[in-house]
Amino acid sequence: MKKYIFLFTLTSALFISSCNTQVKDGPVVGVMADSAMVVSAHPLASQVGVDILKMGGNAVDAAIAVQFALAVVYPGAGNIGGGGFFVIRNADGTIDGLDYREKAPAEAYETMYLDENGEEIENLSRRGHLAAGVPGSVDGMVKAYEKYGSLPWKDLVQPSIDLALNGFELTEREARKLNYNREDFEEYSTVKPFFTEKEWSTGDKIKYEELGHTLERIRDNGREGFYAGKTAEDIIAEMERGGGLITLEDLTSYESIWRAPITGWYRGFKVISMAPPSSGGVALIQMLKSVQDYDLNEMGWNTRESVHLITEAERRAYADRSYYLGDPDFWKVPVKELTDDTYIVERMATFDPFAATPSDSVAEGKFTLYESEETTHFSIIDANGNAVSATTTLNGGFGNKVMVAGSGFILNNEMDDFSIKPGVPNMYGAIGGEANSIQPGKRMLSSMTPTILEKDNELYMVVGTPGGTTIITSVFQVIMNVVDHGMGMQAAVNAGRFHHQWRPDAIRFEETAIDSVIRIELESMGHELYQRGSIGRVDAILIHEDGSLEGGADPRGDDTAVGY
Ligand code: GLY
Repeated sequence: MKKYIFLFTLTSALFISSCNTQVKDGPVVGVMADSAMVVSAHPLASQVGVDILKMGGNAVDAAIAVQFALAVVYPGAGNIGGGGFFVIRNADGTIDGLDYREKAPAEAYETMYLDENGEEIENLSRRGHLAAGVPGSVDGMVKAYEKYGSLPWKDLVQPSIDLALNGFELTEREARKLNYNREDFEEYSTVKPFFTEKEWSTGDKIKYEELGHTLERIRDNGREGFYAGKTAEDIIAEMERGGGLITLEDLTSYESIWRAPITGWYRGFKVISMAPPSSGGVALIQMLKSVQDYDLNEMGWNTRESVHLITEAERRAYADRSYYLGDPDFWKVPVKELTDDTYIVERMATFDPFAATPSDSVAEGKFTLYESEETTHFSIIDANGNAVSATTTLNGGFGNKVMVAGSGFILNNEMDDFSIKPGVPNMYGAIGGEANSIQPGKRMLSSMTPTILEKDNELYMVVGTPGGTTIITSVFQVIMNVVDHGMGMQAAVNAGRFHHQWRPDAIRFEETAIDSVIRIELESMGHELYQRGSIGRVDAILIHEDGSLEGGADPRGDDTAVGY
């Protein structure tokens, strides 16, 4: 029986792979391991995580070390100047969620990105000093360490210092990204960053010396190494030179928060994901529940029927997201109501199996976007079965393009994740209202969806991805690929993806996601379709029936699984 399932999985995986030209070079069966694994956006960061696990560190120790390592080797999204979320499942089955999302500075106000006519000032929430929220990553790592850390703190920060000070070789993608962003760095940073001074090539060695010394201060002084002393002084000086709002008081008062994860069920699997201020957990569970009364396996992978059904589930969840989701410390988010089974059935009552429901006719439900695509995700399981699903971001690639002079790290442009004016889309098309309006000290709504699945009360899958609003639909589709279509982890990650977010009313798809005949059929049902580049970079781990771990490292990036 087991052999049969394996063969089926492999066959479906080969099928997906063979029709997936965009990722055809990706392996169909991922890296396998017996005990522990780290999957992240960069091979050096994954190696750092595994080294920590081999030193006897647990999954949270490794996650902290990977967060810092990504800030060096993957600076477009890895960060100390941004924020993120951890979803944790301990080996004893207890779960936890850490919110280290950025906050609006105390001097922020609702109309700060609008001109005197109430119109959006182009780029103000996206580039430069005013776009930055108060960073949460370092406080988050300290909080995670205080609760779960086991190795000495300095051992978790040191690998990132070594990478920054000793240097490392750039991959082709990373060299290209540094070159591509050069003009923006020159325009928005008040002091020209050293890495704008040359054209980078694959294999070039790069050292981030100022960043290395900032990490040394974090190693030696923990939270104070960032929110006080030289680093804080450099941030404040940068804000003063560039007209930003972050003050010392904002830095001193920043706190990450432990929040109970959102949980729900999908075909007998327990789904554990991030609570608001991320919309990820709520929307993921809404979408899974919306499709679970249908036999997706019988419909087939990305057929006309299944793409249509999934699209309609996504449309309705994103309509709710835009109205109801925001920072729960400022706005009552009706989580229970939005994920209630009866509500979901009512929501799907307007589903027509033969025709698209126009988004104009779908408002948020009643009960009695693109955002940035340069976030990054990592998944970790340690040898004792503890797991961390972590997504972290600067929002846009290299955030607000401002490098903090003297401290050598890049600040986020997370303020654009607020709804800067009700009904006006942010840079990636996401629309919001009052729930996600700017208020001092408020966290901006996120789509980050670090997720863990249980099967029969045991750890089963750790999954997540970058991709702005496409994060939630990517995690949704990868879960269905495994649960409904029997794919292994790597095949599920490789498979083409598509995305609908209510507004704009269109399906965006990777070339390999939807067959050309099916595209025509979907159009005849009233769907608008647009091909786009790759969607997300899913990094995930699946536990097979024999206890072995399969990594799913996304071939759309440099993502790498390392295990033992
Ligand atoms: N900045 C991307 C997100 O939080 O969803």
